[in-house]
Amino acid sequence: MAVLVTGGAGYIGSHTVVELLNAGYETVVVDNLYNASRESLKRVEEITGKTVTFYEVDLLDRDALNRVFEKHSIESVIHFAGYKAVGESVQKPIEYYFNNVSGTLILCDVMRQHNVKSIVFSSSATVYGDPEVLPITEEMKTGGVTNPYGRTKFMIEQILQDIYVSDPQWKIILLRYFNPIGAHPSGMIGEDPNGIPNNLLPYVAQVAVGKLEKIHVFGNDYDTEDGTGVRDYIHVVDLAKGHVKALERIAEHERAKEGGVDIYNLGTGNGSSVMQIINAFEEACGKELPYEIDERRPGDIASCYADASKANRELHWKAEKTLSDMCRDTWNWQSHNPNGYGDA
Ligand code: UFG
Repeated sequence: MAVLVTGGAGYIGSHTVVELLNAGYETVVVDNLYNASRESLKRVEEITGKTVTFYEVDLLDRDALNRVFEKHSIESVIHFAGYKAVGESVQKPIEYYFNNVSGTLILCDVMRQHNVKSIVFSSSATVYGDPEVLPITEEMKTGGVTNPYGRTKFMIEQILQDIYVSDPQWKIILLRYFNPIGAHPSGMIGEDPNGIPNNLLPYVAQVAVGKLEKIHVFGNDYDTEDGTGVRDYIHVVDLAKGHVKALERIAEHERAKEGGVDIYNLGTGNGSSVMQIINAFEEACGKELPYEIDERRPGDIASCYADASKANRELHWKAEKTLSDMCRDTWNWQSHNPNGYGDA
């Protein structure tokens, strides 16, 4: 029996495959390599000493996906595959809805056809929109999302819940990630964005390595302690381990012969500001980093951090790594792979 990981060659996917293999799961990866590299999986194999079965398959290619299910005895699916850039999604809504939503529908239909009804979905704290209260609990209202990317996450959550209503044998876990950063402590796998990074950490890391000139801080007039945006940054290895715990939760449901939809925030519960991140990264890389204060970025909110106690109670999971671990591991990856997997 194997776990199918869609988007398993990407940033969070590859780190999750490491943890799955370490936990003894047979793992099959499908990825169209749009925003990922085959090299990441070679390195996953080096890190773990185990083999990953890989297919270069696009979820929109139903026949190819079907063949993967015919060939392997898939027990459950962890679904990461999807476009993920907020800004780009505003420019390309058709592509985002088509790829993310249709890709998920095809995946679920093929799963149903093969009687595979267990899925862990890679959702995002973006589904909460601009939260009224902090920290954010899973019960809070969702849907006030301001961009197509975020809306695809919200829609897919709805679709999966509707699937459960139609067939209560389904075991569905929605994991709402806060801000994943960091890299595997080996420095062999990490985040390798296409082009100029949109997210703060890869941008800071590329300034530190000399590829970009200076950090642009998007606004210092927010209602936060130092005026810069506050987020709940979580180490990608902690996040990856949350997926292994989610599979254990599905196995519990299996033993109880029950289905369900479980929703969990995966965050640390702590907020850090942009300036705190810059300072922590300076510590990690041992140099001062140039920055300037710019205008606010449209669509950004002041603060966002999780109440992660439900995952702690029900999944027996807790983020363990500190901000300094996150910056150290990001720097270790970036300084050894200044051009990401392009150096391989
Ligand atoms: N920021 C900068 N400069 C940059 C990039 C970001 O100052 O060059 C600031 C932002 O204004 C924000 C913080 O750094 O205050 C974090 O920004 P990111 O772009 O790294 O992350 P976001 O919180 O905006 O978005 C992330 C993911 C989304 C996800 C969202 C959900 O990128 O996919 O979290 O919480 F939807």
